Amino acid sequence: MRKILIVDDEHAIRRTLCLLLESEGYKVLTAATADAARAHLAEEGIDLVILDLRLGDDNGIDLLMRIRETNTDAECIIMTAFGSIENAVESMRLGAYDYLTKPINPEELILRVKRVFEKKQLAEEVTRLRDELSNSSRHDGMVAASPAMRGILNVIQRIGSQDIPVLVRGETGTGKELIARAIHFASHRSQRLFLPINCCALPEELLDSELFGHVKGAFTGATASTRGLFQQAHGGTLFLDEIGDISPRLQTKLLRVLQEKTIRQVGGERQIEVDVRIIAATNRDLETAVRSGAFRSDLFFRLNVLPLHVPPIRERIEDLTPLIDLFVERIRRRTGRKRLAVTPEARARLHAYHWPGNARQLENIIERGFALSSTDTIDVPQLMFDASPLFEVKGAAADTHESDRVLPTLEEQTLKHIRDALAAHDGNQVAAARALGISRTTLRRRLGLGP
Ligand SMILES: Nc1ncnc2c1ncn2[C@@H]1O[C@H](COP(=O)(O)OP(=O)(O)OP(=O)(O)O)[C@@H](O)[C@H]1O
Ligand SMILES: [Mg+2]
Repeated sequence: MRKILIVDDEHAIRRTLCLLLESEGYKVLTAATADAARAHLAEEGIDLVILDLRLGDDNGIDLLMRIRETNTDAECIIMTAFGSIENAVESMRLGAYDYLTKPINPEELILRVKRVFEKKQLAEEVTRLRDELSNSSRHDGMVAASPAMRGILNVIQRIGSQDIPVLVRGETGTGKELIARAIHFASHRSQRLFLPINCCALPEELLDSELFGHVKGAFTGATASTRGLFQQAHGGTLFLDEIGDISPRLQTKLLRVLQEKTIRQVGGERQIEVDVRIIAATNRDLETAVRSGAFRSDLFFRLNVLPLHVPPIRERIEDLTPLIDLFVERIRRRTGRKRLAVTPEARARLHAYHWPGNARQLENIIERGFALSSTDTIDVPQLMFDASPLFEVKGAAADTHESDRVLPTLEEQTLKHIRDALAAHDGNQVAAARALGISRTTLRRRLGLGP
Protein backbone atom coordinates (compact mmCIF):
# COMPACT_ATOMS: atom_id res chain seq x y z
CA MET A 1 0.00 0.00 0.00
CA ARG A 2 1.31 3.47 -0.90
CA LYS A 3 2.34 5.58 2.10
CA ILE A 4 1.74 9.31 2.22
CA LEU A 5 3.12 11.75 4.79
CA ILE A 6 1.24 15.00 5.37
CA VAL A 7 3.30 17.80 6.89
CA ASP A 8 1.30 20.82 8.05
CA ASP A 9 1.28 22.76 11.28
CA GLU A 10 -2.50 23.23 11.19
CA HIS A 11 -4.30 20.41 12.93
CA ALA A 12 -7.53 20.84 10.92
CA ILE A 13 -5.77 20.50 7.57
CA ARG A 14 -3.82 17.43 8.67
CA ARG A 15 -7.03 15.80 9.79
CA THR A 16 -9.07 16.65 6.68
CA LEU A 17 -6.39 15.53 4.25
CA CYS A 18 -5.74 12.39 6.27
CA LEU A 19 -9.39 11.31 6.16
CA LEU A 20 -9.68 12.18 2.49
CA LEU A 21 -6.61 10.18 1.42
CA GLU A 22 -7.39 7.25 3.71
CA SER A 23 -10.79 6.98 2.09
CA GLU A 24 -8.92 6.63 -1.21
CA GLY A 25 -7.09 3.61 0.18
CA TYR A 26 -3.72 5.13 1.04
CA LYS A 27 -1.85 4.69 4.30
CA VAL A 28 -1.47 8.17 5.76
CA LEU A 29 0.93 9.55 8.38
CA THR A 30 0.98 13.11 9.64
CA ALA A 31 3.53 15.49 11.12
CA ALA A 32 3.11 18.97 12.56
CA THR A 33 6.79 19.92 12.58
CA ALA A 34 9.88 19.38 10.44
CA ASP A 35 11.40 17.24 13.20
CA ALA A 36 8.40 14.95 13.36
CA ALA A 37 8.44 14.69 9.57
CA ARG A 38 12.12 13.74 9.56
CA ALA A 39 11.47 11.03 12.13
CA HIS A 40 8.77 9.47 9.91
CA LEU A 41 10.94 9.78 6.82
CA ALA A 42 13.81 8.01 8.53
CA GLU A 43 11.69 5.07 9.61
CA GLU A 44 8.86 4.50 7.21
CA GLY A 45 9.06 3.80 3.48
CA ILE A 46 7.28 6.99 2.45
CA ASP A 47 6.23 7.24 -1.19
CA LEU A 48 4.86 10.76 -1.19
CA VAL A 49 5.15 13.82 1.04
CA ILE A 50 2.48 16.52 0.92
CA LEU A 51 4.19 19.49 2.45
CA ASP A 52 3.08 22.94 3.51
CA LEU A 53 5.85 25.42 2.83
CA ARG A 54 4.82 27.56 5.81
CA LEU A 55 5.43 25.41 8.83
CA GLY A 56 5.18 27.77 11.78
CA ASP A 57 8.73 28.14 13.08
CA ASP A 58 10.18 25.64 10.61
CA ASN A 59 11.05 26.26 7.01
CA GLY A 60 9.32 24.01 4.47
CA ILE A 61 11.92 24.69 1.79
CA ASP A 62 14.69 23.36 4.05
CA LEU A 63 12.69 20.24 4.70
CA LEU A 64 12.04 19.78 0.98
CA MET A 65 15.75 20.03 0.20
CA ARG A 66 16.50 17.54 2.89
CA ILE A 67 13.94 15.08 1.53
CA ARG A 68 15.31 15.34 -1.99
CA GLU A 69 18.77 14.55 -0.63
CA THR A 70 17.98 11.71 1.71
CA ASN A 71 14.69 10.14 0.56
CA THR A 72 15.15 10.13 -3.18
CA ASP A 73 12.33 7.59 -3.56
CA ALA A 74 9.77 9.94 -2.01
CA GLU A 75 8.03 12.42 -4.28
CA CYS A 76 6.84 15.79 -2.91
CA ILE A 77 3.75 17.83 -3.52
CA ILE A 78 3.97 21.34 -2.13
CA MET A 79 1.08 23.35 -0.65
CA THR A 80 1.41 27.10 -0.84
CA ALA A 81 -0.82 29.95 0.16
CA PHE A 82 -2.76 31.50 -2.66
CA GLY A 83 -0.66 34.19 -4.34
CA SER A 84 2.81 32.93 -3.39
CA ILE A 85 3.67 31.50 -6.79
CA GLU A 86 7.39 32.31 -6.40
CA ASN A 87 7.60 29.77 -3.61
CA ALA A 88 5.97 27.15 -5.79
CA VAL A 89 8.39 27.82 -8.63
CA GLU A 90 11.32 27.67 -6.27
CA SER A 91 10.18 24.35 -4.80
CA MET A 92 9.67 22.80 -8.24
CA ARG A 93 13.21 23.86 -9.06
CA LEU A 94 14.37 22.06 -5.91
CA GLY A 95 12.74 18.86 -7.03
CA ALA A 96 9.10 18.98 -5.90
CA TYR A 97 6.90 17.04 -8.28
CA ASP A 98 3.86 19.28 -8.16
CA TYR A 99 2.20 22.06 -6.15
CA LEU A 100 -1.27 22.95 -4.93
CA THR A 101 -2.56 26.29 -3.72
CA LYS A 102 -4.58 26.59 -0.55
CA PRO A 103 -7.44 26.29 0.08
CA ILE A 104 -7.08 22.72 -1.14
CA ASN A 105 -9.70 21.40 -3.52
CA PRO A 106 -10.20 17.71 -2.53
CA GLU A 107 -10.80 16.43 -6.06
CA GLU A 108 -7.81 18.27 -7.35
CA LEU A 109 -5.65 16.81 -4.59
CA ILE A 110 -6.74 13.25 -5.29
CA LEU A 111 -6.09 13.70 -8.99
CA ARG A 112 -2.57 15.02 -8.41
CA VAL A 113 -1.76 12.25 -5.95
CA LYS A 114 -2.93 9.63 -8.43
CA ARG A 115 -0.77 11.18 -11.08
CA VAL A 116 2.32 10.93 -8.89
CA PHE A 117 1.73 7.24 -8.27
CA GLU A 118 1.07 6.51 -11.92
CA LYS A 119 4.41 8.04 -12.77
CA LYS A 120 6.10 6.12 -9.96
CA GLN A 121 4.58 2.87 -11.09
CA LEU A 122 5.75 3.45 -14.63
CA ALA A 123 9.28 4.22 -13.44
CA GLU A 124 9.30 1.09 -11.27
CA GLU A 125 8.06 -0.98 -14.17
CA VAL A 126 10.81 0.35 -16.43
CA THR A 127 13.45 -0.47 -13.81
CA ARG A 128 12.05 -3.97 -13.38
CA LEU A 129 11.96 -4.64 -17.12
CA ARG A 130 15.48 -3.31 -17.51
CA ASP A 131 16.73 -5.62 -14.78
CA GLU A 132 14.93 -8.53 -16.32
CA LEU A 133 16.27 -7.74 -19.75
CA SER A 134 19.84 -7.31 -18.64
CA ASN A 135 19.70 -10.47 -16.54
CA SER A 136 18.43 -12.53 -19.42
CA SER A 137 20.94 -10.98 -21.77
CA ARG A 138 23.93 -11.14 -19.48
CA HIS A 139 26.42 -13.88 -20.09
CA ASP A 140 24.97 -15.92 -17.21
CA GLY A 141 23.58 -18.23 -19.86
CA MET A 142 26.88 -18.51 -21.66
CA VAL A 143 28.78 -21.75 -21.47
CA ALA A 144 32.48 -21.27 -20.84
CA ALA A 145 33.94 -24.52 -19.53
CA SER A 146 36.92 -24.59 -21.86
CA PRO A 147 40.06 -22.54 -21.16
CA ALA A 148 39.54 -20.72 -24.48
CA MET A 149 36.03 -19.53 -23.56
CA ARG A 150 37.06 -18.70 -20.01
CA GLY A 151 39.84 -16.58 -21.48
CA ILE A 152 37.29 -14.73 -23.61
CA LEU A 153 35.03 -14.09 -20.59
CA ASN A 154 38.04 -12.79 -18.77
CA VAL A 155 38.84 -10.32 -21.54
CA ILE A 156 35.19 -9.20 -21.60
CA GLN A 157 35.33 -8.42 -17.89
CA ARG A 158 38.66 -6.68 -18.18
CA ILE A 159 37.76 -4.38 -21.05
CA GLY A 160 34.64 -3.52 -19.05
CA SER A 161 33.75 0.03 -19.79
CA GLN A 162 36.52 0.92 -22.19
CA ASP A 163 34.97 1.68 -25.54
CA ILE A 164 37.60 0.01 -27.67
CA PRO A 165 36.36 -1.55 -30.90
CA VAL A 166 36.27 -5.34 -30.83
CA LEU A 167 36.39 -7.64 -33.82
CA VAL A 168 34.94 -11.05 -33.01
CA ARG A 169 36.05 -13.82 -35.33
CA GLY A 170 35.16 -17.43 -35.60
CA GLU A 171 33.33 -20.00 -37.67
CA THR A 172 29.59 -19.85 -38.16
CA GLY A 173 27.54 -20.59 -35.04
CA THR A 174 30.41 -20.30 -32.57
CA GLY A 175 28.63 -17.67 -30.49
CA LYS A 176 30.02 -14.43 -31.91
CA GLU A 177 26.79 -12.52 -31.35
CA LEU A 178 26.42 -13.91 -27.85
CA ILE A 179 29.91 -12.62 -27.05
CA ALA A 180 29.13 -9.20 -28.53
CA ARG A 181 26.06 -9.02 -26.27
CA ALA A 182 28.14 -10.02 -23.26
CA ILE A 183 30.59 -7.20 -24.02
CA HIS A 184 27.71 -4.73 -24.24
CA PHE A 185 26.12 -5.86 -20.98
CA ALA A 186 29.44 -5.76 -19.14
CA SER A 187 29.96 -2.14 -20.21
CA HIS A 188 28.61 1.19 -18.97
CA ARG A 189 26.32 1.11 -22.00
CA SER A 190 24.32 -1.82 -20.62
CA GLN A 191 21.22 0.27 -19.89
CA ARG A 192 21.12 1.44 -23.51
CA LEU A 193 20.38 -0.49 -26.66
CA PHE A 194 22.37 -3.31 -28.21
CA LEU A 195 21.45 -3.36 -31.89
CA PRO A 196 22.68 -6.16 -34.14
CA ILE A 197 22.64 -5.94 -37.91
CA ASN A 198 23.65 -8.57 -40.40
CA CYS A 199 25.57 -6.66 -43.07
CA CYS A 200 25.27 -9.36 -45.72
CA ALA A 201 21.50 -9.75 -45.40
CA LEU A 202 20.67 -6.50 -47.20
CA PRO A 203 21.55 -5.03 -50.59
CA GLU A 204 23.90 -2.04 -50.41
CA GLU A 205 21.34 0.80 -50.68
CA LEU A 206 19.09 -0.71 -48.03
CA LEU A 207 21.96 -1.34 -45.66
CA ASP A 208 23.07 2.25 -46.18
CA SER A 209 19.72 3.71 -45.17
CA GLU A 210 19.29 1.11 -42.43
CA LEU A 211 22.56 2.17 -40.84
CA PHE A 212 22.45 5.90 -41.41
CA GLY A 213 18.76 6.63 -41.91
CA HIS A 214 17.50 8.88 -44.69
CA VAL A 215 15.78 12.20 -45.12
CA LYS A 216 12.38 12.58 -46.72
CA GLY A 217 12.66 12.46 -50.50
CA ALA A 218 16.17 10.99 -50.50
CA PHE A 219 15.02 8.38 -53.00
CA THR A 220 11.80 7.19 -54.59
CA GLY A 221 9.61 5.86 -51.85
CA ALA A 222 11.31 7.83 -49.06
CA THR A 223 8.09 9.46 -47.94
CA ALA A 224 9.30 10.27 -44.46
CA SER A 225 12.70 10.71 -42.91
CA THR A 226 13.98 7.89 -40.70
CA ARG A 227 16.62 7.50 -38.05
CA GLY A 228 19.18 4.85 -38.85
CA LEU A 229 20.65 2.27 -36.48
CA PHE A 230 23.55 4.57 -35.58
CA GLN A 231 21.13 7.14 -34.23
CA GLN A 232 18.92 4.55 -32.56
CA ALA A 233 21.91 2.97 -30.84
CA HIS A 234 23.13 6.34 -29.50
CA GLY A 235 24.69 5.69 -26.09
CA GLY A 236 24.65 1.95 -26.77
CA THR A 237 26.32 -0.64 -28.95
CA LEU A 238 25.98 -1.47 -32.62
CA PHE A 239 26.91 -5.00 -33.62
CA LEU A 240 27.96 -5.24 -37.28
CA ASP A 241 27.74 -8.91 -38.15
CA GLU A 242 29.43 -10.27 -41.29
CA ILE A 243 31.39 -7.06 -41.66
CA GLY A 244 33.58 -8.69 -44.33
CA ASP A 245 30.70 -8.44 -46.78
CA ILE A 246 30.13 -4.70 -46.96
CA SER A 247 30.70 -2.82 -50.19
CA PRO A 248 33.72 -0.51 -50.72
CA ARG A 249 31.47 2.54 -50.62
CA LEU A 250 29.98 1.59 -47.25
CA GLN A 251 33.43 0.70 -45.96
CA THR A 252 34.47 4.30 -46.67
CA LYS A 253 31.34 5.68 -44.99
CA LEU A 254 31.86 3.49 -41.95
CA LEU A 255 35.47 4.55 -41.64
CA ARG A 256 34.36 8.18 -41.59
CA VAL A 257 31.89 7.50 -38.76
CA LEU A 258 34.58 5.79 -36.72
CA GLN A 259 36.96 8.71 -37.22
CA GLU A 260 34.57 11.61 -36.83
CA LYS A 261 31.81 10.16 -34.64
CA THR A 262 29.20 11.87 -36.76
CA ILE A 263 26.86 10.52 -39.41
CA ARG A 264 24.89 12.00 -42.27
CA GLN A 265 21.53 10.56 -43.21
CA VAL A 266 21.17 9.40 -46.81
CA GLY A 267 20.24 12.50 -48.82
CA GLY A 268 20.85 14.71 -45.78
CA GLU A 269 23.21 17.65 -45.27
CA ARG A 270 23.49 17.85 -41.52
CA GLN A 271 26.27 16.10 -39.60
CA ILE A 272 24.67 14.33 -36.63
CA GLU A 273 26.78 13.41 -33.63
CA VAL A 274 26.55 9.80 -32.50
CA ASP A 275 28.08 8.06 -29.50
CA VAL A 276 28.03 4.39 -30.42
CA ARG A 277 30.34 1.55 -29.55
CA ILE A 278 31.07 -0.70 -32.51
CA ILE A 279 31.55 -4.43 -32.24
CA ALA A 280 32.08 -6.20 -35.55
CA ALA A 281 32.13 -9.88 -36.41
CA THR A 282 33.15 -11.99 -39.33
CA ASN A 283 33.77 -15.60 -40.22
CA ARG A 284 35.86 -14.57 -43.23
CA ASP A 285 39.59 -14.28 -43.57
CA LEU A 286 39.73 -10.48 -43.52
CA GLU A 287 43.52 -10.35 -43.83
CA THR A 288 43.31 -11.98 -47.24
CA ALA A 289 40.52 -9.59 -48.22
CA VAL A 290 42.75 -6.69 -47.15
CA ARG A 291 45.65 -8.03 -49.16
CA SER A 292 43.53 -8.46 -52.26
CA GLY A 293 42.13 -4.94 -51.85
CA ALA A 294 38.56 -6.11 -51.24
CA PHE A 295 38.55 -4.71 -47.69
CA ARG A 296 40.04 -1.34 -46.72
CA SER A 297 43.09 -1.81 -44.53
CA ASP A 298 42.49 1.44 -42.59
CA LEU A 299 38.97 0.25 -41.68
CA PHE A 300 40.32 -3.16 -40.75
CA PHE A 301 42.80 -1.61 -38.29
CA ARG A 302 40.10 0.65 -36.83
CA LEU A 303 37.77 -2.29 -36.20
CA ASN A 304 40.39 -4.77 -35.13
CA VAL A 305 41.73 -2.88 -32.11
CA LEU A 306 40.90 -5.89 -29.94
CA PRO A 307 40.66 -9.16 -31.88
CA LEU A 308 38.72 -11.96 -30.19
CA HIS A 309 38.95 -15.37 -31.76
CA VAL A 310 36.23 -17.85 -30.85
CA PRO A 311 37.47 -21.37 -31.56
CA PRO A 312 35.14 -23.92 -33.14
CA ILE A 313 33.47 -26.47 -30.85
CA ARG A 314 35.71 -29.30 -32.04
CA GLU A 315 38.69 -27.39 -30.60
CA ARG A 316 37.05 -26.84 -27.20
CA ILE A 317 35.26 -30.09 -26.66
CA GLU A 318 34.91 -29.37 -22.90
CA ASP A 319 32.09 -27.00 -23.81
CA LEU A 320 30.03 -29.66 -25.57
CA THR A 321 28.44 -31.38 -22.57
CA PRO A 322 27.43 -28.13 -20.82
CA LEU A 323 26.09 -26.81 -24.13
CA ILE A 324 23.97 -29.94 -24.62
CA ASP A 325 22.65 -29.58 -21.06
CA LEU A 326 21.92 -25.87 -21.53
CA PHE A 327 19.97 -26.38 -24.75
CA VAL A 328 18.03 -29.34 -23.32
CA GLU A 329 17.15 -27.36 -20.21
CA ARG A 330 15.99 -24.42 -22.32
CA ILE A 331 13.63 -26.65 -24.31
CA ARG A 332 12.41 -28.31 -21.13
CA ARG A 333 11.54 -24.98 -19.57
CA ARG A 334 9.97 -23.64 -22.75
CA THR A 335 7.76 -26.68 -23.20
CA GLY A 336 6.96 -26.95 -19.49
CA ARG A 337 7.96 -30.63 -19.32
CA LYS A 338 9.15 -32.18 -16.09
CA ARG A 339 12.03 -34.08 -17.50
CA LEU A 340 13.99 -34.24 -20.74
CA ALA A 341 17.07 -36.36 -21.30
CA VAL A 342 19.66 -37.33 -23.85
CA THR A 343 20.74 -40.97 -23.65
CA PRO A 344 24.43 -41.77 -23.06
CA GLU A 345 24.52 -43.35 -26.53
CA ALA A 346 23.21 -40.17 -28.15
CA ARG A 347 25.70 -38.11 -26.15
CA ALA A 348 28.51 -40.31 -27.39
CA ARG A 349 27.36 -39.69 -30.96
CA LEU A 350 27.27 -35.96 -30.37
CA HIS A 351 30.81 -36.14 -29.04
CA ALA A 352 32.00 -38.05 -32.08
CA TYR A 353 30.70 -35.42 -34.50
CA HIS A 354 32.88 -32.60 -35.93
CA TRP A 355 30.34 -29.73 -35.64
CA PRO A 356 30.85 -27.64 -38.77
CA GLY A 357 27.90 -25.47 -37.69
CA ASN A 358 29.09 -25.27 -34.06
CA ALA A 359 26.75 -24.32 -31.21
CA ARG A 360 23.93 -23.25 -33.50
CA GLN A 361 23.96 -26.64 -35.25
CA LEU A 362 23.97 -28.41 -31.91
CA GLU A 363 21.02 -26.33 -30.76
CA ASN A 364 19.11 -27.21 -33.96
CA ILE A 365 19.89 -30.90 -33.71
CA ILE A 366 18.69 -31.07 -30.11
CA GLU A 367 15.61 -29.05 -30.94
CA ARG A 368 14.80 -31.37 -33.81
CA GLY A 369 15.65 -34.44 -31.75
CA PHE A 370 12.91 -33.63 -29.26
CA ALA A 371 10.50 -32.76 -32.01
CA LEU A 372 11.08 -36.21 -33.51
CA SER A 373 11.05 -38.06 -30.22
CA SER A 374 7.75 -39.38 -28.99
CA THR A 375 9.17 -39.73 -25.48
CA ASP A 376 11.04 -37.32 -23.23
CA THR A 377 14.34 -38.71 -24.42
CA ILE A 378 16.59 -38.23 -27.40
CA ASP A 379 18.32 -41.37 -28.49
CA VAL A 380 20.66 -41.97 -31.41
CA PRO A 381 17.89 -42.44 -34.01
CA GLN A 382 16.59 -38.94 -33.31
CA LEU A 383 19.92 -37.33 -34.12
CA MET A 384 20.04 -36.04 -37.67
CA PHE A 385 23.27 -34.44 -38.79
CA ASP A 386 22.77 -34.20 -42.53
CA ALA A 387 22.16 -30.99 -44.42
CA SER A 388 18.57 -30.80 -45.57
CA PRO A 389 16.06 -28.07 -46.40
CA LEU A 390 14.90 -28.22 -42.79
CA PHE A 391 18.33 -28.01 -41.39
CA GLU A 392 20.73 -25.76 -43.15
CA VAL A 393 24.22 -25.32 -41.80
CA LYS A 394 24.84 -21.68 -42.60
CA GLY A 395 28.24 -21.17 -44.18
CA ALA A 396 29.15 -24.84 -44.07
CA ALA A 397 29.62 -26.57 -47.40
CA ALA A 398 26.07 -27.77 -47.87
CA ASP A 399 25.69 -30.14 -50.76
CA THR A 400 23.16 -28.58 -53.13
CA HIS A 401 21.64 -31.70 -54.58
CA GLU A 402 21.49 -33.10 -51.07
CA SER A 403 19.46 -30.08 -49.95
CA ASP A 404 17.10 -30.41 -52.91
CA ARG A 405 16.15 -33.86 -51.77
CA VAL A 406 13.08 -34.55 -49.77
CA LEU A 407 13.93 -35.09 -46.12
CA PRO A 408 14.59 -38.80 -45.61
CA THR A 409 12.54 -40.60 -43.04
CA LEU A 410 13.95 -41.18 -39.61
CA GLU A 411 14.34 -44.87 -40.33
CA GLU A 412 16.28 -44.14 -43.53
CA GLN A 413 18.51 -41.71 -41.65
CA THR A 414 19.27 -44.20 -38.95
CA LEU A 415 20.03 -46.94 -41.41
CA LYS A 416 22.30 -44.62 -43.33
CA HIS A 417 24.25 -43.76 -40.17
CA ILE A 418 24.66 -47.40 -39.35
CA ARG A 419 25.67 -48.41 -42.88
CA ASP A 420 28.18 -45.53 -43.04
CA ALA A 421 29.66 -46.62 -39.74
CA LEU A 422 29.85 -50.21 -40.90
CA ALA A 423 31.53 -49.16 -44.14
CA ALA A 424 34.02 -47.07 -42.18
CA HIS A 425 34.88 -50.10 -40.08
CA ASP A 426 35.11 -52.65 -42.86
CA GLY A 427 31.87 -54.27 -41.82
CA ASN A 428 33.03 -54.87 -38.27
CA GLN A 429 29.78 -54.65 -36.25
CA VAL A 430 31.44 -54.31 -32.85
CA ALA A 431 33.66 -51.44 -34.00
CA ALA A 432 30.79 -49.72 -35.84
CA ALA A 433 28.50 -50.06 -32.82
CA ARG A 434 31.18 -48.60 -30.58
CA ALA A 435 31.68 -45.64 -32.94
CA LEU A 436 27.94 -44.99 -32.92
CA GLY A 437 27.77 -45.27 -29.17
CA ILE A 438 25.20 -48.09 -29.31
CA SER A 439 25.38 -51.77 -28.41
CA ARG A 440 26.00 -54.44 -31.03
CA THR A 441 22.56 -55.86 -30.28
CA THR A 442 20.89 -52.55 -31.03
CA LEU A 443 22.89 -52.23 -34.23
CA ARG A 444 21.85 -55.70 -35.39
CA ARG A 445 18.23 -55.06 -34.45
CA ARG A 446 18.22 -51.82 -36.45
CA LEU A 447 19.58 -53.67 -39.47
CA GLY A 448 16.92 -56.34 -39.04
CA LEU A 449 19.54 -58.99 -38.36
CA GLY A 450 18.12 -60.36 -35.15
CA PRO A 451 20.13 -60.70 -31.95
N1 LIG B 1 29.12 -20.51 -25.28
C1 LIG B 1 27.80 -20.56 -25.50
N2 LIG B 1 26.94 -20.73 -24.48
C2 LIG B 1 25.61 -20.79 -24.69
N3 LIG B 1 25.03 -20.68 -25.88
C3 LIG B 1 25.82 -20.49 -26.95
C4 LIG B 1 27.25 -20.42 -26.82
N4 LIG B 1 27.77 -20.23 -28.04
C5 LIG B 1 26.74 -20.17 -28.89
N5 LIG B 1 25.55 -20.32 -28.25
C6 LIG B 1 24.22 -20.33 -28.84
O1 LIG B 1 24.33 -20.80 -30.17
C7 LIG B 1 23.58 -20.03 -31.07
C8 LIG B 1 24.47 -19.39 -32.10
O2 LIG B 1 25.24 -18.37 -31.50
P1 LIG B 1 25.51 -16.97 -32.22
O3 LIG B 1 24.33 -16.52 -33.00
O4 LIG B 1 26.06 -16.04 -31.21
O5 LIG B 1 26.66 -17.44 -33.23
P2 LIG B 1 27.39 -16.64 -34.37
O6 LIG B 1 28.83 -16.94 -34.23
O7 LIG B 1 26.98 -15.21 -34.34
O8 LIG B 1 26.84 -17.36 -35.66
P3 LIG B 1 26.84 -16.85 -37.22
O9 LIG B 1 28.26 -16.78 -37.64
O10 LIG B 1 26.09 -17.92 -37.89
O11 LIG B 1 26.17 -15.52 -37.22
C9 LIG B 1 22.82 -19.03 -30.24
O12 LIG B 1 21.54 -19.52 -29.95
C10 LIG B 1 23.66 -18.92 -28.99
O13 LIG B 1 22.86 -18.54 -27.89
MG1 LIG C 1 25.96 -14.15 -35.89
